[in-house]
Amino acid sequence: MTGWVSAAEVGPRGLRDLFGAFLTGVTVVTALADDGSPAGFTANSFTSVSLDPPLVLVCVANGARSCRILTAAERFGVNILSDAQQDVSAAFASRTGTRFEGLEILSEPGGPPLIVGSVGSIDCRREQVVQAGDHAIVIGRVLGFRREPHPPLGYYAGGYVSFGRGADLLERRDGTGIVVGGLISLEENVLILRRPGRSGWEIPTVALRSGECHRTALPVLLGQFGVRAEFFFLFSVFQPPGDARLRMFFRGVMTEPPARSELPDGTRLALVSEADAPWSLLHGPGECVGLRRFFRERQDARFGIYWDTECGGQVASIEGEPQPWRRNEVGPVPGGDDTHRSA
Ligand SMILES: Cc1cc2nc3c(=O)[nH]c(=O)nc-3n(C[C@H](O)[C@H](O)[C@H](O)COP(=O)(O)O)c2cc1C
Repeated sequence: MTGWVSAAEVGPRGLRDLFGAFLTGVTVVTALADDGSPAGFTANSFTSVSLDPPLVLVCVANGARSCRILTAAERFGVNILSDAQQDVSAAFASRTGTRFEGLEILSEPGGPPLIVGSVGSIDCRREQVVQAGDHAIVIGRVLGFRREPHPPLGYYAGGYVSFGRGADLLERRDGTGIVVGGLISLEENVLILRRPGRSGWEIPTVALRSGECHRTALPVLLGQFGVRAEFFFLFSVFQPPGDARLRMFFRGVMTEPPARSELPDGTRLALVSEADAPWSLLHGPGECVGLRRFFRERQDARFGIYWDTECGGQVASIEGEPQPWRRNEVGPVPGGDDTHRSA
């Protein structure tokens, strides 16, 4: 959606998408219920309001079970989650399961439960409740807080965003500096992935660990979805700006379609056609350009290989389909000798 739209026209779904485009942190807001039992829910509506006096707010849906508890409690806690607490966020947003199980909790006498391992935990006294549409805005005065030195958890467009771990750096230190990827098709469709905590979809890739083979790394990833594919040609070789790792993308064709579309860790798989304009879903500009080229070249049944250069990259077209290299399968190699050669 690029043009101007009226809020009445777009409805709650469109509004939710818009609000989700605002990158936030994630908190768990806690309080004690009337009977003294701990309660809490995941909230990204937390906002700092005032330094003097120190005020914060959180919005709670009128329909949430926590609404009655939070608007009635004298004190409430705001726990700013760390990037190691995605599971805590999920537990406190889920209608099933026990929320506090396995958590280490601290609390001041009469205060709300504060979750150890959070980036920060704030003890607030309820100051004001403002009814606003389908939510209640609960404003609290900060009585005290504690900090822990963890990187925060982010939330954007319905997915978690991890900032602090330097996961890419760790991968690089432990790996080869090479990422292999695959443009893997099934008839008209191409396979894309969405990893938990990532903001967009991506072409499947695997960062090679030291000693790992590029021929097996991608099949292992796909195998988790029950997908089998044959890879048969190089499609592009490039390094995205600011990333030291070399990317090698191969073309592939699925020989067995996916048996499942989601892994236990939340990684999702989708098959998209050109008509779905999947480039608008991808998060890397290089991947968008690559996918467009893939569809265009497939239509012409004439593929090229891209590699990046100082002046914007080059594509070389190649004729025909790949042929087996070994001479006993194809006969004498023109101009070759009798010794085994490897490409
Ligand atoms: C990242 C994230 C942020 C959320 N933010 C809010 C919020 O600010 N306010 C709210 O009422 N619900 C929010 N929710 C939804 C609640 O956590 C969810 O509805 C929860 O089940 C409510 O629990 P309850 O019904 O026990 O109160 C959020 C969920 C997630 C995953």
